[in-house]
Amino acid sequence: MTLAAAPASPGGAAAGLRHLAIIMDGNGRWAKARRLPRVAGHRAGIEAVRRVVEAAPDLGVEVLTLYAFSSENWKRPADEVADLMGLLRHYIRSEIKELHKNGVRMAFIGDWRSLKPDIVTMLEEARTLTAANTRMTLVIALNYGGQQEMVRAVRALATEAAAGRIAPEAIDDAVIEAQLDTAGLPAPDVVLRTSGEMRLSNFLLWQSAYAEFVVTDVLWPDFDRAALVDAVAEFATRERRFGGR
Ligand code: FPP
Repeated sequence: MTLAAAPASPGGAAAGLRHLAIIMDGNGRWAKARRLPRVAGHRAGIEAVRRVVEAAPDLGVEVLTLYAFSSENWKRPADEVADLMGLLRHYIRSEIKELHKNGVRMAFIGDWRSLKPDIVTMLEEARTLTAANTRMTLVIALNYGGQQEMVRAVRALATEAAAGRIAPEAIDDAVIEAQLDTAGLPAPDVVLRTSGEMRLSNFLLWQSAYAEFVVTDVLWPDFDRAALVDAVAEFATRERRFGGR
């Protein structure tokens, strides 16, 4: 199944922002500043997710991709990993009806099928329930790494080539894109990172070739509609040339 995008709405089309991808960073610092455990930062991060998912369609965003758990996040202490998985369960369970009611289609990228079986079932159900929705596509990157995604794509194509089903010279950018988890989605127009860090952290490496990088000092748990409006305004000031002049 491909992830074709929902139709454009006027606000985002005017600004040219169809696909917004966010690296949600700063939960730990937010908690530390309040002498709270890290999980409190992640919990507050879920509230920011709710605010942004609600505000994004009003700004015309067709696709919102959130980097919730990277392939490298397994290196965090086991209790923090368990907290993040617990929050994912809680988010899907508590939000799915509202998301569906609001016309949000849910999709997942990354090696999410190797998460715990109960989570995989929950994600499959969320996808099935919301499959026909068109107001916005919410893509959650789970157990996602851009390099790992490319490795999977290369292996799949190498298998096809070895079996004689595709000629090596027939492999071009479109063929590679069709193998990526994001097949059918427009490329991100903006990769936004919160909390002031200027790194891609293995996020949408292929897809963000011509994305505008927007960094805000706001910590993710403080991110809200106003911060989103600021980010869209920053994007609107950029002149995009896609390698031309
Ligand atoms: C980065 O903050 C944030 C994460 C690694 C996880 C983001 C996850 C959530 C907001 C909750 C789950 C999301 C969904 C969509 C269900 P950090 O801990 O690296 O912060 P720090 O750099 O300040 O330590």
